[in-house]
Amino acid sequence: MSSDRVQQAYSTMADVYLERLATMDVVHPDDRRVILRHLAGSDGPVLDLGCGPGHLTAFLHAAGCEVTGVDLVPEFIAHARRTHPQVPFVQGSLTGLDRPAGSVAGVLCWYSLIHQDPQELDGSLAEVRRVLAPGGAFVLGFFEGPVREEFDHRVTTAHRWPVDELSARLAVHGFTEVERLTRGQDGERRPHGVLAAAAG
Ligand SMILES: C[S@@+](CC[C@H](N)C(=O)[O-])C[C@H]1O[C@@H](n2cnc3c(N)ncnc32)[C@H](O)[C@@H]1O
Repeated sequence: MSSDRVQQAYSTMADVYLERLATMDVVHPDDRRVILRHLAGSDGPVLDLGCGPGHLTAFLHAAGCEVTGVDLVPEFIAHARRTHPQVPFVQGSLTGLDRPAGSVAGVLCWYSLIHQDPQELDGSLAEVRRVLAPGGAFVLGFFEGPVREEFDHRVTTAHRWPVDELSARLAVHGFTEVERLTRGQDGERRPHGVLAAAAG
């Protein structure tokens, strides 16, 4: 799905999203730990791509990361700057980052690639790999499922992925998986996956 459509969909729902999801309270303790384990010790800049309201960006900043949040949606960037004035946020697309190749030590994409079909995802993974230095850490949060398929998401169409299939896709782009985590349906929360990988 085009970035324009994703931006419009989130802009339309920004108030609801900010009210319900702009907090670390919604991030499972296991997820916090895996994010910190791979990104908190990064030796250089870290990007939170598709940072939304910026709570995870602020979480990484508080853990000592030199982190910048990037998002398409002006309402989210305005909220993030207001709420976390000590943290840098940039409005832009993760599909074309204004960063030199190999200049970034870590990247978080927390549910920000969920609206991309496989071809779009390949473009984004290539861009993440381009900006990461060799050995840089990549942490990806996503909807997990037994087969790759799209489904109706509250904001706009999203995709679920089997972990093995997504890990193989990362490998094609030069990443080596270093950790995975999955959680089944949890109340209203859909099955969830996290992959942590190192850039080759
Ligand atoms: C499900 S939200 C997750 C937001 C945040 N990471 C969180 O955990 O609350 C998906 C986010 O990805 C952002 N996003 C989607 N495609 C993007 C792109 N091409 N560039 C930058 N941000 C993007 C959306 O604007 C939205 O804020």
